[in-house]
Amino acid sequence: MRAPVPFLLMTLAGPMPATEPLQEPEARFHPTRGVAGMVATQEARATESALAVLARGGNAVDAAVTAAFTMAVTLPRAGNLGGSGFLLGHLADGADFVIDFRERAPLAAGSDLFLDANGNRDPSKAQSGALSVGVPGSVRGLALALEKYGTIPIAEAVAPAIALAETGFPVDASLHDSLSACREDLARCPEARRIFLTEEGGPPAIGDQLVQTALARTLRLISEQGANAFYTGRIARLLTDDMARRGGLITQGDLAAYRAIEREPLRTTYRGHTIITPPPPSSGGVQLLEMLNLIERFPLRESGPNSAASIHLMAEAMKLAHADRAAYLADPDFVEVPTATLVSKGYAETRSALIDPGRSRPSVEIAPGLPGAHRPESPETTHLSVIDEAGNAVALTTTLNFSYGARIIATGTGFFLNNQMDMFDAKPGEANAYGLRSGEHNAIAPGKRMISSMAPVLVFFPDDGGILATGTPGGSRIANTTLQILVNVIDHDMNLAEATCAPRFHHQWWPDQLEVERGFSPDTLRLLKEKGHRVSEARSMGSVQSVRFRNGTFEGYSDPRRPGALTLPVRDH
Ligand code: DON
Repeated sequence: MRAPVPFLLMTLAGPMPATEPLQEPEARFHPTRGVAGMVATQEARATESALAVLARGGNAVDAAVTAAFTMAVTLPRAGNLGGSGFLLGHLADGADFVIDFRERAPLAAGSDLFLDANGNRDPSKAQSGALSVGVPGSVRGLALALEKYGTIPIAEAVAPAIALAETGFPVDASLHDSLSACREDLARCPEARRIFLTEEGGPPAIGDQLVQTALARTLRLISEQGANAFYTGRIARLLTDDMARRGGLITQGDLAAYRAIEREPLRTTYRGHTIITPPPPSSGGVQLLEMLNLIERFPLRESGPNSAASIHLMAEAMKLAHADRAAYLADPDFVEVPTATLVSKGYAETRSALIDPGRSRPSVEIAPGLPGAHRPESPETTHLSVIDEAGNAVALTTTLNFSYGARIIATGTGFFLNNQMDMFDAKPGEANAYGLRSGEHNAIAPGKRMISSMAPVLVFFPDDGGILATGTPGGSRIANTTLQILVNVIDHDMNLAEATCAPRFHHQWWPDQLEVERGFSPDTLRLLKEKGHRVSEARSMGSVQSVRFRNGTFEGYSDPRRPGALTLPVRDH
């Protein structure tokens, strides 16, 4: 169809003079004045419970923690009490902080935990069952965030979750489908089977009420006793009894010793914008900043959004950052990680010499970039964003690793346990479930945190004092997805809906493959192939949840790639 004539005239003639007919204001999700905060999460009830907190005068941290507890009930495949995450916060007074509540290896875990009799990695042990479970950090982390930076008691943050677990909520298509996909694994755990499957072993029907009585009891204990209920009280006993029965390693000592750690955010600038994100053991944060520093050296705005030239430059940066992830990233409390160098502008200057605008550098030609370091060998998670009226902002990513984690629930507790031990390097050079390799620096050791791709992000805009909170799940695709959001917003002036919906691509160094979502033009893909990229079509990537505040206006958007997400504004009274 031909474009309407007035549109053509307008584009040819440049900006319209004021006398021309009025244009509609630009569509913005959600267009908002008279709004006192905004929340974007993967699950509508979580968005609503966080919104209610903001409406009562709670801050962004209160709202984010409330949403996280709610999703432990309403999004059991990813929202969790039995997993981990990174909460990145900014307070209106200027303070920035990270709460790292990543899982740790049990104190009895050694580097050979997942090797079989022949010394080979046994994925079945690393990815399912009791040995795959890391010591959960979520409850400590959320409680710490609330205690230090929130304004409401934990009982208030947990209340909506208790109500939803007790009275239940109707199963939607997304929950039904995800339970159906995992039903064979879930059926092997009597507790998971009892709560989440029917007598016949299938998922509950769409519209059935899902009541979670054991989980409600667990949440009530947390509400009454705080995080200690989980780490030293009744929940700890139930969890460790179950672990002992199953041959798992987590003891009461492991739980009692678990601490959430407050860390300084990593920071860089990208075309004058300040970007902050969590430091190691998040690897995703380092990768993101490294990529931003690299691509800042190229004129992406001129190359245009999702042109072959831009995709090529960004894919080259993705390979370099993934190579460094594999070589250097680990728990900084156990291994020296050259973080400051990796995220420095000087390092990007040196490494950018490897980016040839005309040719894709094959992965075999890329080695990690620092001398004398480690060997050069080498979906379920959820993100939420909140900004409140005062300008406090939170970007929070949490995970069980796989959908429903290890697919086990300790008897009496009602919540799924993670299978995060697979994020350690079980055998140097061998890829994990996401095709990611690392090395001995990320080997299992007692009490060590496994690295994580999770990388919640806050962007501070220089021109209007605005803030963007964003992030995504997606395993190895997390940093690359977030990179594309930032480039779309900063380089290409897209609003959050445009930035989120634009098709995505991904390269993780190994395999040497440029994965692309559907939606790129054939001529773009042809140009990429001509540069040497091995292009392959992939399923949709990530589920970005973003909120931006600028000039008194809130804008937010929930990725349409996964069902059930919701962005809502708090209406000003
Ligand atoms: O922490 C990590 O890196 C992984 N557990 C993240 C997994 C993930 O994002 C899956 N999402 N769909």
